[in-house]
Amino acid sequence: MKSFGHFDDAHREYVITDPATPWPWINYMGTEDFFSLISNTAGGYCFCKDAKFRRILRYRYNGVPMDDGGRYYYIKDGDTVWNPGWKPCKTPLDFYECRHGMGYTRLTGEKGGLKADVLFFVPIGHRCEVHRVKLTNTSASKKSFQLYSFVEWCLWNASTDMENFQRNLSTGQVEIEGNVLYHKTEYRERRDHYAFFGVNRAFDGFDTDRETFLGLYNGFDAPEQVRLGASGNSLAHGWSPVAAPRFDLKLAPGESTELIFVLGYVENPQEEKFVAPAVINKAPAREMMAAYATPEQVEAAFGELKAFWDGLLDRFTVESSVPELDRTVNVWNQYQCMITFFMSRSASYFESGIGRGMGFRDSNQDLAGIVHLIPGRARQRILDIAATQFPDGGCYHQYQPLTKRGNNDIGGGFNDDPLWLLFGTITYIRETGDFGILQEPVPFDNQPGTEVSLLEHLKISFRHVTDNLGPHGLPLIGRADWNDCLNLNCFSWNPDESFQTTENKSEGSKAESLMIAGLFVAEGKDFAELLAHPAVAADPDYVAQVGEAVAAMEEAVKRHGWDGEWFLRAYDYYGRKIGSRENEEGKVFIESQGWCTMARIGAKEGLCDQALDATVKYLECEHGIVLNTPAYTRYLPEYGEISSYPQGYKENAGIFCHNNPWVIIGEAMAGRAEDAWRHYRKITPAFTKDQALRKVEPYVFCQMVAGKDAVRPGEGKNSWLTGTAAWTWKAVSEALLGIKPQLDGLLVEPCLPAEVGTYKVHRRFREAEYELTIRLTGKGGSRFIPYRPGRQVLELEF
Ligand code: BGC
Ligand code: NOJ
Repeated sequence: MKSFGHFDDAHREYVITDPATPWPWINYMGTEDFFSLISNTAGGYCFCKDAKFRRILRYRYNGVPMDDGGRYYYIKDGDTVWNPGWKPCKTPLDFYECRHGMGYTRLTGEKGGLKADVLFFVPIGHRCEVHRVKLTNTSASKKSFQLYSFVEWCLWNASTDMENFQRNLSTGQVEIEGNVLYHKTEYRERRDHYAFFGVNRAFDGFDTDRETFLGLYNGFDAPEQVRLGASGNSLAHGWSPVAAPRFDLKLAPGESTELIFVLGYVENPQEEKFVAPAVINKAPAREMMAAYATPEQVEAAFGELKAFWDGLLDRFTVESSVPELDRTVNVWNQYQCMITFFMSRSASYFESGIGRGMGFRDSNQDLAGIVHLIPGRARQRILDIAATQFPDGGCYHQYQPLTKRGNNDIGGGFNDDPLWLLFGTITYIRETGDFGILQEPVPFDNQPGTEVSLLEHLKISFRHVTDNLGPHGLPLIGRADWNDCLNLNCFSWNPDESFQTTENKSEGSKAESLMIAGLFVAEGKDFAELLAHPAVAADPDYVAQVGEAVAAMEEAVKRHGWDGEWFLRAYDYYGRKIGSRENEEGKVFIESQGWCTMARIGAKEGLCDQALDATVKYLECEHGIVLNTPAYTRYLPEYGEISSYPQGYKENAGIFCHNNPWVIIGEAMAGRAEDAWRHYRKITPAFTKDQALRKVEPYVFCQMVAGKDAVRPGEGKNSWLTGTAAWTWKAVSEALLGIKPQLDGLLVEPCLPAEVGTYKVHRRFREAEYELTIRLTGKGGSRFIPYRPGRQVLELEF
């Protein structure tokens, strides 16, 4: 089977050895508010804070050829022009390697006795990418050659940049000073930000106008100036501004030289925007350039970045007999959780950074993957999210990262949304013990003066469900639940309207969701426990009410949500069953099996075991558990978007990896270790063998893997930004390895087959540090370790 790369566990890197990967395999850089996407051939872009409104580099999605546009270095050595990352020239290299590490990417290319080693990273503390380019003459003779670098500026708004050409082609503006090319489009008016691309040595020529550099009819693979070995020294005015400096270099045999490039972003206060009419204030850019002027400074900044990631990833480590498990837990899953937390669903190679703000439900779930790493940021995120809620508990489905305001693009009315605030907050408190967050004043819809405590927001969230029950006492689904594509009140025949925002028929709807019912019971139980804790000491009458509402929901599920062998999925607008043996298609669904078994509804009566058996029997396939079966083969207006997808993709019987961990956790709660472990291995990329089939990065989870009904089952899509990251983290760390944060300590309750043997877990928990040796003997059980600060070394047998 063809391999395109391998893990380097010691360095926490993935090493790509063939540039022609089956899909661009990307990495992310950035830890604060400046972020970059970078592929294994240096494609991609960067932005500050908001991938739509502050896009710095231009990138063309779904382009031909794939993945064009990025930070390109061209080497012209005699008549040969090549790039260290192979693209865009695609000149065959004598050696190629891409190392994607934690927040950095390193590309090494070698051709004709010249080696180029380019390290890309976003340092901590500055809004920029640093590119350290090290060139070495590996031949026996002297070399004279040219180095060009090239980036193309986006005119800030990534959306209008792609559509408003009557304006855009006249607005581009740059300035050139010293070794720096500045991009200042629209700075003269309302923008107070500009970008720059500078280098720590004088250049021998430059271009800032794309047409001059490339030639109007050339692609990035054949720039006219590079072919000529020249530069146009062009000044972009209108058209498309770029930054392309040139260096004429000479190296003796064995000699090396290093150039440091800084691709930065600057915001100036209104009153300090200009130093002279039309001359921008460059002081902050100069300061940034000065911070990365020498190899020593770059080394130190890179060291700081490494220390940042090491510090985080050292908080939870496992050492077991299964290397795939260890590298997933110790490196890639946690890293993906961090990236997903930073980006939400905005910018990946499947998300254009334009359409999707921060999701209310998505952002709450993302917390589960990072709260043990960056609790302070999790806290802030919870308060930001809660502040977008409405007084009746309803929510905007999304909010905008730049303003933190709810945005109406997707509207609201997704009736699972409020419950995720409970999930996020409880997850946070269990990890941190910070009950104080519950007393924080939080407004509604960001309106000053409307503040109530976060605890009040949670109560209102809980009540939003009980205020919106349907004819069976089950939660009304609203616009949709977790499954955005189960649009039971939409009824759309118009291809120009969105399934997400259209409600053509909702008055008198009987559409109810078993997924929300399960979520309500699971979160309701946890909420009751939180409320009863001495640190909260909520009114006992209220605690009792919560308990009663949960019990009533359990009853409703048992009475109206059980289909004989599995949990139903929903009732439709008319009150007809969905996810039942009575249905011709879509007889069984994963979401309700996951949530109702996590909530342990009907466990005593054997419902959970039956539902899990049905999941294995009907939904599990070679690559994971599909969302529903049989897949829908025709469009059903009463079900909406789910039936719009071809069979085996996305919400129509794709392996939606996000909800596989629900089943894994459900299995673990039922003590079914073999099943839980098998489900986990199927969706975890480190275990997948066929890289060509999987197509996307072998080091991160994807949102969806094509299911059994698809043309190529096992093909992955929508990698990186997905709730799968946080949920698989929760599944592996808590359900499988068994390290479960509780309000007052850690519950250790592993659920893995005995053949996994003995493993060690190192776990930072609040001010405590646990060194656990866990021996699996097959006897099971659990052990509660009350929280106390300090180091604890324990050997436990299960
Ligand atoms: C996708 C969903 C997504 C939704 C909202 C749909 O097209 O299939 O996975 O949640 O759009 O953006
Ligand atoms: C992706 C969305 O981001 C998420 O909110 C949703 O729950 C899933 N798709 C399922 O539709």
